[in-house]
Amino acid sequence: MSWKASAIEDLSGKTVVITGANSGLGLASSHALAAKGAHVIMTARDEQRGWAAKAKVEHAIPGASVEVRRLDTSSLDSVRSFTKDFSGPLDILLNNAGIMAIPFSQSVDGYEMHLATNHLGHFALTALLLESLKAAPAARVVTISSVAGKQTAMSFDDITTETGYEKWSAYARSKLANLLFTAELDRKLRDVGSTISALAAHPGLSDTNLFPDDSGRMGGIVKRLAQSADAGALPQLFAATSPTAQSGQYYGPSFAEFRGGPKLLKMPTVAVSVEEAQKLWAQSVDVTGLDFSF
Ligand SMILES: NC(=O)c1ccc[n+]([C@@H]2O[C@H](COP(=O)([O-])OP(=O)(O)OC[C@H]3O[C@@H](n4cnc5c(N)ncnc54)[C@H](OP(=O)(O)O)[C@@H]3O)[C@@H](O)[C@H]2O)c1
Repeated sequence: MSWKASAIEDLSGKTVVITGANSGLGLASSHALAAKGAHVIMTARDEQRGWAAKAKVEHAIPGASVEVRRLDTSSLDSVRSFTKDFSGPLDILLNNAGIMAIPFSQSVDGYEMHLATNHLGHFALTALLLESLKAAPAARVVTISSVAGKQTAMSFDDITTETGYEKWSAYARSKLANLLFTAELDRKLRDVGSTISALAAHPGLSDTNLFPDDSGRMGGIVKRLAQSADAGALPQLFAATSPTAQSGQYYGPSFAEFRGGPKLLKMPTVAVSVEEAQKLWAQSVDVTGLDFSF
């Protein structure tokens, strides 16, 4: 599909929240959505980086309606304090922030850092923003996964300890959690006849700060092969805005899921297990102390 961000309809009057908006795909999405008139709440774990990113958007799009708010998805307190001050309606929530393949560490709440940052924080954020999403006529929650999400099986043990830790497996588990969360959220929303949609997207291989410049040989290969962040953001932008995108769908790049325009993908086999999704949901409720009041 040769869909481009210029095809996004007018978003005047719509409000968007993007996690990890100061860099890579979050920044590219902030640009594209602000360019179409949305009010974009760019959230960042580091406010200075958030302000710098906001300045870039405002420079590129004079008159852009953007604000910066601090939000660290690895901290349940930070998620709570962001949502406490939020009043809806919220049209688009882009659960985008992520870390990849870092050495073992624990979040302030004591959970393995990939799962905390990439999944648990977004689970809590979505739960706490549900009333704002309900207040919009047809809100969308788009959660960013990765091809890594299909290269694993869900494991529910050791979400606190270093036992058996391997950094790529930890990343893959968190990205599978993004898909299982989306699938279960979609089922729960459909059960209650909600107007909210839940979709997932992934960017293929995109040149962002996920692979830092000092990531050695692999980083060099990535830089040469990757598409731009603007191109990588297209699947999430399509999922967030296209009138043809439906709840429960998963979008990624058209060419071998590696690069190219957005394409509707099959949910990977590991992400379609209702049992696994329900188990993850129950564990996420338990860990965050939050549930969704559909
Ligand atoms: N690039 C790819 O090829 C690729 C492939 C598959 C999936 N993805 C997914 O795409 C998403 C966006 O990543 P990207 O490629 O755009 O990488 P990026 O340029 O590194 O952007 C990641 C963003 O997430 C933020 N972040 C990290 N930890 C956070 C936390 N605890 N709280 C709040 N924000 C946090 C980062 O903030 P800082 O700037 O402060 O670090 C940054 O703004 C991720 O979910 C990633 O898994 C990317």
